[in-house]
Amino acid sequence: MAEELLQVARAVADDVEGILLVERHCFGRTWTRQQYLTEIAGSPHTYPAVARLDGRVVGFGSVTCIGEQAYIPTLGVLATHRQCGIGSRLLQALLAVARRMGAREVVLEVRVCNAAARRLYEQHGFEQVAIRRDYYEEPPDDAVVMRLAWEESATEPRSAGAETCHAQWSPGAVPHATAPAASPPGGPADQRDGAPGL
Ligand SMILES: CC(C)(COP(=O)(O)OP(=O)(O)OC[C@H]1O[C@@H](n2cnc3c(N)ncnc32)[C@H](O)[C@@H]1OP(=O)(O)O)[C@@H](O)C(=O)NCCC(=O)NCCS
Repeated sequence: MAEELLQVARAVADDVEGILLVERHCFGRTWTRQQYLTEIAGSPHTYPAVARLDGRVVGFGSVTCIGEQAYIPTLGVLATHRQCGIGSRLLQALLAVARRMGAREVVLEVRVCNAAARRLYEQHGFEQVAIRRDYYEEPPDDAVVMRLAWEESATEPRSAGAETCHAQWSPGAVPHATAPAASPPGGPADQRDGAPGL
């Protein structure tokens, strides 16, 4: 069985088409190409990360960290590559970056109906802290606010993976391909031109 190389790394300009594909696929709507390029070009507060499989972008997420608080506005994996650990790898990388940037807590919103994502976040230590009624449109849904807190700040990431990491990944491990997320996010907190929120 052929093995493919999984790489989780900071996004670069060449990843933009792949990022657009992932975001459109997962959420239906995206930022403009230029908005992603601007994010990739560099804000000291934001880290956009991609998961590449043999060089092809199959997942995308980002984290913004201001002061001691970090926020994850988006995380998605192509349906054909879900439930193989890629979402976890991306999330681990974002959390490691947030730690390194000095965050003491990470917050995000997720649709109440999004059981897969809620389970993923719970596995990584997030807890539900609030419900935002009617937060999402198309279709309407409430948001669960989830939070992960670290007791002390860290200057070093707790886990490897904040930077490029490689792993052998077997396509045979894909249990099944699921349909694209039925519920595009785009919560009101995310004001970036219909961009996906969590
Ligand atoms: C949420 C998402 C990013 C998870 O990515 P993924 O690569 O499939 O996640 P992983 O394979 O790393 O799974 C990690 C954990 O998430 C949970 N999970 C993932 N898919 C699940 C599913 N269909 N049902 C229940 N739990 C699921 C499980 O707890 C899993 O751990 P396990 O394999 O030990 O059971 C992916 O489903 C996705 O892109 N969904 C559409 C976009 C989206 O909703 N993004 C999040 C917005 S808040």
